[in-house]
This record gives sequence, structure tokens and C-alpha cells, in this order.
Amino acid sequence: MQAQINASLHFEIYYFVDVKMPTLSIIQALFTLLSLALACPFHNGASNPILAAANNNHFRPLQRSNPFSRARTAITNVRIFDGYRLLPASTVIVDRGTIVDVGNSGNAIVHIDGKGGVLMPGLIDAHAHPSDITHLQDLSRYGVTTTMLMACFQPQSCLSLKNHSGLVDVVVGSLIAAAPGSIHGNIVAAVDGNGDRLVYNASMAPQWLDNALSWGPDFVKLIAESPGLDQQTLNVLTKTSQDRRKRVACHASSLDAYEQAAIAGVDDIQHSPSDKPISAGLARRIAFRGQVVTPTLAIMRAISDTSPATRNYTAAEETVRRLKEAGVPIIAGTDSNLVPGLIAIVPFGISLHEELQLLVNAGLSPIEALRAATSTAAKHWGLNDRGVIARGKRADLVLLSGNPLEDISATKTIQRIWLAGVEFSGAVGSF
Ligand SMILES: *[C@@H]1O[C@H](CO)[C@@H](O)[C@H](O)[C@H]1NC(C)=O
Ligand SMILES: *[C@@H]1O[C@H](CO)[C@@H](O)[C@H](O)[C@H]1NC(C)=O
Ligand SMILES: *[C@@H]1O[C@H](CO)[C@@H](O)[C@H](O)[C@H]1NC(C)=O
Ligand SMILES: [Zn+2]
Repeated sequence: MQAQINASLHFEIYYFVDVKMPTLSIIQALFTLLSLALACPFHNGASNPILAAANNNHFRPLQRSNPFSRARTAITNVRIFDGYRLLPASTVIVDRGTIVDVGNSGNAIVHIDGKGGVLMPGLIDAHAHPSDITHLQDLSRYGVTTTMLMACFQPQSCLSLKNHSGLVDVVVGSLIAAAPGSIHGNIVAAVDGNGDRLVYNASMAPQWLDNALSWGPDFVKLIAESPGLDQQTLNVLTKTSQDRRKRVACHASSLDAYEQAAIAGVDDIQHSPSDKPISAGLARRIAFRGQVVTPTLAIMRAISDTSPATRNYTAAEETVRRLKEAGVPIIAGTDSNLVPGLIAIVPFGISLHEELQLLVNAGLSPIEALRAATSTAAKHWGLNDRGVIARGKRADLVLLSGNPLEDISATKTIQRIWLAGVEFSGAVGSF
């Protein structure tokens, strides 16, 4: 009985992968050609309807036929990093996408021997820019089970990335709020061919938000930069979003912008300044206001590698040290994107493991880095159904053969991955 089930599971897994790949490469080729032809910085314009249709019409039906989310599964003989601490060897039971028991063997149909490895919650990359299914596959393959799409220029394509069972869950941000004439404002204007979606002043901010929220993004993305939105406009955008119960994430990659984002009271400051480190005083004010920070060291390092004269990675690291000392919650995010010509290419999935290592290099302990990508991220994003291994939570799980609490690089010993209980067939293995 057991063997039969396992055999049919494996058959289905390979079938699932084989069908996808040829179709994807055609879509990829089209996508690349179109985006090159349009020379569009965020892969928008004409490629969007094609991508959105591919995501919606091809992958959704395939995934609906995936049978794995149903069988009651016991993952035995695993030490459990539950999102907070390491528990002794035990068993986790998963049923219909949910963790139904931790510690008791219970009765299960499928048994998986964890061989003394570490089972941890699926990883959260709280800053990424996926635009097609291959990006979601890459994130999933590396154990990323939730990601925040940190900006959306075309609602149709962003929404087509949501709700793919068996793939990373995508939390979608709004259009970026950016000022005319600013670096990010120029991107918005280039995508639209006009300035209709820019924020000109504080008095139009509420109307801008009405438009930005009309299609239902999960959170609001602001840009603090210089030149850019003035303080009053950032304040109004933040307050109005929070009044509408939308979390506010704010880009800030220089010291001045950090100060602005802190004053505006945004929920989450993205990046770590690469001009100068923040002062201990600013770090304390950020802590006092209950703000959190996603330093995105992976991209900060990539940028400073290509522009060492203007981007100081040591300064970015120093900010992380000061934030930690002040007790600011730190969240893992990479800014992963494969957009040619954008500031730096950061590959999906693998970069989150680099981010964990960089956070440790910047002074976090391995357990703090792991929390940054699991329980801390889930808590501050209001995702109360995940980020921890506990009864009733989503079965987003990664089984490792090594122990990342001893050495953070052991997150790279991935054996198996489950996304809301659906095992991912292409787990990367050790890398
Ligand atoms: C995703 O699923 C949620 C919950 O079922 C639903 O409310 C939402 O409309 C779905 N979104 C898309 C884009 O499919
Ligand atoms: C704000 O910007 C809008 C759009 O450009 C403009 O119509 C309006 O007059 C401006 N309001 C103020 C107070 O400057
Ligand atoms: C980079 O930042 C560090 C930390 O603030 C500082 O000590 C160093 O002098 C900076 N390097 C340059 C080239 O400015
Ligand atoms: Zn970004």
C-alpha cells in the first residue's frame, strides 16, 4: 500500500515537471523578445497580457489537478526549528495543507523519515520582483514559500502570480508612489508613457491611494529618495494607507531617505543606506516607533560590487548592526529580480540563502537570521497563518539535512519542501 502510493506520487511529480518545461521555455523566449523590443524596464507593455494569460490559463488548471495536498503525512525523526527555537527530535503531521500535530505520531497515510535533519518553516523573502512562473519555481525550489512582490506596475500580471497551489505564495504590493522627475518617478512615467500615475503633491495623495488600491494590492509601496516625494506627501500617504488598514513598505537606500521614512512612520523600511550608516539615535527612534527594517543586503552588496565608488557596502552592514543593537526587528528580503538594466540582477531563491549569510556577517546570530526569514517576517506582515511550525498553521516546510543554527550555510542542505502541504518536486538539494 505504502509503496504503491509512493510510486504514484513520484510518477505524478515527474509528469508535473515535464509538462511545464517546454511550454515555459517558449513563453520565456517570447517574453524576452518582447521585453527587449520594448526596452521596457519592468517587462510590461505588450508582454503582460501574454504572461498573465499563460499564468492563468495554463498553470492554474495544471496545479488544480495536483493530488498531493490531500494525503495525511507524518514527517518523523526531525529536529524542529519552529520559527523561534530548536526543539528535540520529533514528528510533524500534515493534513490537507495544514500542520495538524507536532510531537505525536498519530495515524498517517504517508510516512517520511527525516533522518535526524532539521525541519523549519518555509522561508519568506520579503522583497522580490517575480514577474513570471519560472521566477516562482525558482523561489520554491530554494524553499521560499512566501514572497512579497515589492512593486506592481500592471495589476493583471501581478494578480496572475497569486494563488498557484504548489508554488510560493505571492503577497502583492501597489504601484510605487513616486514623485515626478525622481529616479523612480521616471520609471513609472516610462511604463505608462505619461505622468498620470505619479504623486505630485500631498493634496492629491488620498486620490492617488484610491486609484492605487482599486484593484486590491495587499500593501502600499512608497519611495523615499532625493530628489523625490517631500516629507509632507510621505506623511499623508503613510497615514492614509494605515487608516485604510494597508501596511506601508518604503524604499529608502540613502541616509536622508531613511530619516524621511522613519519620520513618516512607515511600517517597514526597505534596504540599508549605502552612502552612510544611520546613527544610533535614528536606530533608536525607528525601534521606538515600532517600525521594522528589511535591509536587502543581497542587492546592496551586488550594487556596491558594480559601483564601489558610490555604494559603500560596509556602511550598509554597519546600519544593520546599529538596528540590531537598538532592538529593531529585522526581516530577510533580497530585492531579487532578473530585470536587465535594472540596478543589479539578483537571482530568485538562491539569493535568500545569501541574504541569511550576509545578515549573519553583519552581526545577527544564525537563529536571529532564521527568525528574520520566518516568524519575524510573518508576524510583522500580519501573516498569522505561517512562519512557524505549530498546530493549525500552513504546512510551509523545508527539510534540511544540516543544522542552520550551528552554521547558517546549512540552509543550503535542502532535502524536501512543502508549500501549504503540497510537496515541491524540484527541491534544489544541497548547493
Ligand atoms: C486568491 O485567493 C483568495 C482566497 O481564496 C481570493 O480571495 C482571491 O481573490 C484570489 N486572487 C486571485 C488573483 O486569484
Ligand atoms: C497637486 O497636483 C495636482 C496634479 O498635478 C494639481 O492639479 C493640483 O493643483 C496640485 N495641488 C496643489 C495644492 O499644489
Ligand atoms: C564606508 O563606510 C564605512 C563605515 O561607515 C567607513 O568606515 C568607510 O570609511 C567608508 N568607505 C568609504 C570609501 O567611504
Ligand atoms: Zn525592490
